Amino acid sequence: MNKKPDAKPRNPYFSSGPCAKFPGYSLMALQEAPLGRSHRSAAGKARLKKSIEKTKELLALPHDYLVGIVPASDTGAIEMALWNLLGERAVDVLCFDSFGREWAYDIVHQLKLEEVRVFSAEYGFLPDLSQVDFDHDLVFTWNGTTSGVKVPRGDFIPLNRGGLTICDATSAVFAMELPWERLDVVTFSWQKVLGGEAAHGMLVLSPRAVERLESYTPPRPLPKIFRLAKEGKLLRGLFEGSTINTPSMLCNEDYLAALGWAESVGGLPALIRRSESNLQAVANFVDDHEWVRFLASDPAIRSHTSVCLSVDLAPEKLQEIIALLEEEQVAFDIASYREAPPGLRFWCGATVERSDLELALQWLQWAYHEVTKR
Ligand SMILES: Cc1ncc(COP(=O)(O)O)c(C=O)c1O
Repeated sequence: MNKKPDAKPRNPYFSSGPCAKFPGYSLMALQEAPLGRSHRSAAGKARLKKSIEKTKELLALPHDYLVGIVPASDTGAIEMALWNLLGERAVDVLCFDSFGREWAYDIVHQLKLEEVRVFSAEYGFLPDLSQVDFDHDLVFTWNGTTSGVKVPRGDFIPLNRGGLTICDATSAVFAMELPWERLDVVTFSWQKVLGGEAAHGMLVLSPRAVERLESYTPPRPLPKIFRLAKEGKLLRGLFEGSTINTPSMLCNEDYLAALGWAESVGGLPALIRRSESNLQAVANFVDDHEWVRFLASDPAIRSHTSVCLSVDLAPEKLQEIIALLEEEQVAFDIASYREAPPGLRFWCGATVERSDLELALQWLQWAYHEVTKR
């Protein structure tokens, strides 16, 4: 007899973006938003600057790194970096999920750079990191949100390097330790690990990235929305809250609320612990059930934010499970990414409570038995 679990998760949202709001979230937290005011007013700029400063503080960024709020979420931030910086030297690209493949595509087919080497791996695996030539620029994703694979450590990147390292870390920032001194450009969005709102991206630049922006003018037109420098000078205001165009002050306030929550639970170390503990809950489940396994079989490269699972079932049966869990309102948005192999993906970042995840997994077991007995 397949007993239906009694309890349901308090928060059944396990989407890998936009991710769950932090526990206790309420719209009341947005009351200080300067709505109806110009983002260039003193009040508006102060709130944007606060987001930048709090981000630097929570992530313990090196004091000479810059952080800017940019349009179009993480995609906007990474594309800005690629279009402004690349072309000065050869480029290596590491791809191990769909987003990495998108950046490789743009570098080869849109930017049409000629000296490009793309190192790809199948879903669940990491390319051989030792192939990278650090006299080239490197573009890579820290955590493959669609493959459940992460880069295990940063020491494959030398401290002394000729090229720049450009890292899409949207599902890693606020969840994993990043070796900032080895990264020249890091991008992420508000909607990901801290469960903020969509549409705004964050661009982190090292002094070496700034130097490139000020010494190299890319041989291509750049629309205003992408421009980071003018006449050989970085647009510094962008990194102090003078955004390129109009941001949403409501979304900014939401990000500030998420940062406040992150601080209140103990900052970055606590966020990392919460996420790792969530992965442990899934690992316990996988250990106990022979019909489910991690897409990333090597624990060293297994993501603890976007946790991807393979299930020994036909894709139609898997869809039935997903539909059943949604119907019961116990787990939403847990299908694997549309381009990834069929499977399940549970977001395990810090805003997800382990107790909710454990309950959702009990329901998964129930749903598996329901659909296999039909
Ligand atoms: C690794 C990675 N890069 C880029 C993106 C695109 O992010 P956004 O929609 O915030 O631009 C995502 C979204 O899930 C992602 O996971």
